[in-house]
Amino acid sequence: MGKVTVITSGKGGTGKSTVTAGLGAALVRRGNRVLTIDCDAGMRGIDLMLGVSGELVFDIADIVNGNCSPASAIYPCRTVPELYILPAPQNVRDEISPYIMRQLVRVLEKYYDHILIDCPAGIGSGFESAAAAASQAVMVANAEPLSLRGCDKVRQKLKQWHIPEIRLIINRFNERKFRKLDAFPDLDVVIDKAGARLLGIVPEDPAAAGAAQRGEPIEGKMKAVYAFDRIAARLDGVSVPLEL
Ligand SMILES: Nc1ncnc2c1ncn2[C@@H]1O[C@H](COP(=O)(O)OP(=O)(O)O)[C@@H](O)[C@H]1O
Ligand SMILES: [Mg+2]
Repeated sequence: MGKVTVITSGKGGTGKSTVTAGLGAALVRRGNRVLTIDCDAGMRGIDLMLGVSGELVFDIADIVNGNCSPASAIYPCRTVPELYILPAPQNVRDEISPYIMRQLVRVLEKYYDHILIDCPAGIGSGFESAAAAASQAVMVANAEPLSLRGCDKVRQKLKQWHIPEIRLIINRFNERKFRKLDAFPDLDVVIDKAGARLLGIVPEDPAAAGAAQRGEPIEGKMKAVYAFDRIAARLDGVSVPLEL
């Protein structure tokens, strides 16, 4: 049975979609078959990051409405074999309900080693649908007060969905900027404020972010790739020491 992980944050723009794409590719490098599900109805982005936006015909709402089979709405990433994407609908009004999402993911999880569900910003209905289907959660935060406030809200919501395992990824970390911001004495305080066990730290990496924006694979000698590989190993239950 696949592990279903919701990638969430509360505050927008912390890097959920970039992390979903980067982590998806890293899990594939470990030999996994991975499905990413975009739950950001109206603002989908994973298709772009996986380089398939030009070929989309169906999306998740088409499956639910009986317009197509599940397989017809799942697209293989062209550059990373064994990485797949189920796109979100283009209109928010086509967003699917938490109950339906859960049923759909139960069917799909048999065919994948991992399912990563990319959340919209906030804790509205899109978040609820994404969380309802998940067995574990990753909160993506930046080491900034506003972002950590978002974690607080998300954590409470995730508990309402009885998600037992909530982990933290600190994304876009840059030591110099962190010192300059001077909001926290060290990363321990950031982790405490987020209120979840650390899964990993992804550095600020314009090369990886640029690749994602252009629909190119997040791989090779990029700084973020090293971090994604270590996080992927942890998601697979391998013990990899944290580098704080
Ligand atoms: N590790 C990173 N290093 C540099 N830029 C990043 C990183 N992660 C995300 N970004 C950038 O931050 C912005 C928001 O990322 P995105 O993944 O779209 O966030 P979200 O899905 O949470 O809204 C984008 O411009 C993206 O390229
Ligand atoms: Mg996003």
